[in-house]
Amino acid sequence: MPEIRVAIAGVGNCASALVQGVEYYKDARENITVPGLMHVNFGGYHIRDIKFVAAFDVNKNKIGKDLSEAVFAEPNCCARFADVPPLGVKVSPAPILDGVAEHMKESFNVYNSSEVGQTDVVETLKETKTDVLVNYLPVGSRNATRFYAQEALDAGCAFVNCIPEFIASDFKWSKKFEEKGLPVAGDDIKSQLGATILHRNLVKLCIDRGVIVDETYQLNLGGNTDFLNMTVEERLKTKRISKTEAVTSLVPYELPTRIGPSDFVPFLGDKKICYIVLKGRKFGNQPAIVTVKLEVEDSPNSAGVVIDVIRAVKLALDRKIAGPLISISSYAFKHPPIQVPDSIAKQWVEDYINGKREC
Ligand SMILES: NC(=O)c1ccc[n+]([C@@H]2O[C@H](COP(=O)([O-])OP(=O)(O)OC[C@H]3O[C@@H](n4cnc5c(N)ncnc54)[C@H](O)[C@@H]3O)[C@@H](O)[C@H]2O)c1
Repeated sequence: MPEIRVAIAGVGNCASALVQGVEYYKDARENITVPGLMHVNFGGYHIRDIKFVAAFDVNKNKIGKDLSEAVFAEPNCCARFADVPPLGVKVSPAPILDGVAEHMKESFNVYNSSEVGQTDVVETLKETKTDVLVNYLPVGSRNATRFYAQEALDAGCAFVNCIPEFIASDFKWSKKFEEKGLPVAGDDIKSQLGATILHRNLVKLCIDRGVIVDETYQLNLGGNTDFLNMTVEERLKTKRISKTEAVTSLVPYELPTRIGPSDFVPFLGDKKICYIVLKGRKFGNQPAIVTVKLEVEDSPNSAGVVIDVIRAVKLALDRKIAGPLISISSYAFKHPPIQVPDSIAKQWVEDYINGKREC
């Protein structure tokens, strides 16, 4: 049976949606459309071929629990849409590094690393024969992300970077993966129908219809720990770059753009609300203003995309393709090594699956 052995760094809401999603769609028929996936059968891999083999976190509520329980432990608030049977994977205590900001210590219920021994991440990845390590750390985890990327390199695993730290899109880091013969995909996962893809498509529509876009902004609100973490401006630097470039990269001129702030509204839970405003000029210099409100459950919004990414990365391992995976990164991430319009990226991924593109 084909299988893809996956480890997770950061068992938060996104991990919850991913683990539930793999269970929810385990029996999906190949001829149906699953919302949020490119294909049920992606290059020969079904959703159920994803096997979780290791997980790392720093939360006392999660450490030591089976992953199937840990994904529902507080402060996770992702909707429960699947009952996950025991997976036989215990969440391991991970190095904290800069994964936990000062204002997040209480919410993340951080363990005392002098009392509980820390896991040797490389050893765990090797012992569990992990194929792919998925990084789901909080925004602003600069050192911790680099730590996990290096552990993946040392253990011989592929790396999927779902957060706005630059690994796949950073030449120095992507070269390290290439030299080790390992694939890397990233950076900063682009949700199925999130603020970024919507904003990109509004801007693309204007460009295609000859509307000059003069200014645009995006406001996001949510009540999960991702939003609480982002209330501290110093953790947001790369997030702003990632989200802003995802929009401005489509425009052939300078576009005044403001993405943010991300406001924390506790009672929203895992619901995310986004407002996008775009001001432009059309024929005769006459004004056009677009205002859009998007309301979604935040965490499940990117889980299907990650299921496709994991399978694309496994195909690269099978095909001995190393370094940054261009097609799936452009399609599935906000800050890929190469930015192209989404329709082109989608075609690249289809060509990659069919072996018509190398990476
Ligand atoms: N929701 C989406 O669709 C989406 C889209 C794009 C990017 N992201 C990014 O994905 C990441 C994960 O999002 P989330 O909603 O799951 O966040 P979350 O706050 O629910 O989960 C983060 C998890 O990381 C753990 N953690 C902190 N430091 C750690 C360390 N050193 N080692 C291991 N675990 C550690 C926390 O305890 C927590 O369980 C965030 O950076 C987020 O911005 C999410």
